[in-house]
Amino acid sequence: AAVLALSLVGCGGGSSNDGEKKAEKVVIKFSHVVAETTPKGQAALKFKELVEQKSGGQMEVQVFPSSQLVGDKEELEALLANNIQIIAPSVTKLVGFEPSFQLVDMPFLFASDEAAMNFYNGPMGQKLMHSLEPKGMLGIAWWPNGAKHFTNNKRPLKTPEDFKGLKFRTQSGGLLDAQFKALGAGSQTLAFAEVYQALQNGTVDGQENTFNNTDTQKYQEVQKYLTVSGHGRLDYVVLTNTKFWNSLTPEQQNIFNESMQEATEFATKLANELNDKSRENIEASGKVEFYELTEADREKFIKVLEPLYAEYEGKIGKEYIDAAKASK
Ligand code: LMR
Repeated sequence: AAVLALSLVGCGGGSSNDGEKKAEKVVIKFSHVVAETTPKGQAALKFKELVEQKSGGQMEVQVFPSSQLVGDKEELEALLANNIQIIAPSVTKLVGFEPSFQLVDMPFLFASDEAAMNFYNGPMGQKLMHSLEPKGMLGIAWWPNGAKHFTNNKRPLKTPEDFKGLKFRTQSGGLLDAQFKALGAGSQTLAFAEVYQALQNGTVDGQENTFNNTDTQKYQEVQKYLTVSGHGRLDYVVLTNTKFWNSLTPEQQNIFNESMQEATEFATKLANELNDKSRENIEASGKVEFYELTEADREKFIKVLEPLYAEYEGKIGKEYIDAAKASK
């Protein structure tokens, strides 16, 4: 009953023939950490619009962007407690629950954006998405952001040697720490909301993110160099609380699913467009020197980072890595 009380607010508007659940207004809180002008921010608003329209206002979605309600760590706890009903964390942030999610951080694993999306939507991606169900979190969609690139404010990063002695922010420990260690750099896990300041005051020298996150967080104000590396992925798993889900009527679940499917299509179309636009914005700021890795540069990085495959294959699961490699 406590669970329902958080998400279902009686509005007393139903006729006497309606079932009790039908008369109750459903309030869905959707919290995330990025700006509204990101693929995730825009898709969350699209989902809200669709759910409210399809349900005739009987279901309400409240979206809280930019860690306004809760930040990275707290959003997972809040979802598990059913204090919020939807989150869309970057895949990496689920490593504490299921190490296989570190797949997205395997350096140079996915051949392209399409290869990543085809993996997510294929059988192994679906298996991974559903792996959190025993923990009370229901995976409902994959939303893309894009490939990650390195930024820092000390020097241009063209070869693995250039990373020596620098310190980078990571989204989580595990494979990302190992990646920077292999490059001779240090790392520190910081919540997304803390990164701008950490870059500004020199707590860390650099970070890795998509063009769109870099731009919408204005890292160009506090970073001098950007290496177009595309070495890893930053995408999202949309999760809901299992008990909340089971409290919905079949009609409400249909509305939820249809809206999520449309919002996912919207996010998928938007991601590349917003990242391209953000790349232009960062370049146009004139504050950041760009370097694009050549094929020969990439080979050098791949060689230095290769040992991570042996080390993490067992932790992630060989079947996931093989499926990701084979994805086109
Ligand atoms: C980050 O922490 O860098 C990202 O996960 C933020 C996000 O949600 O895109």
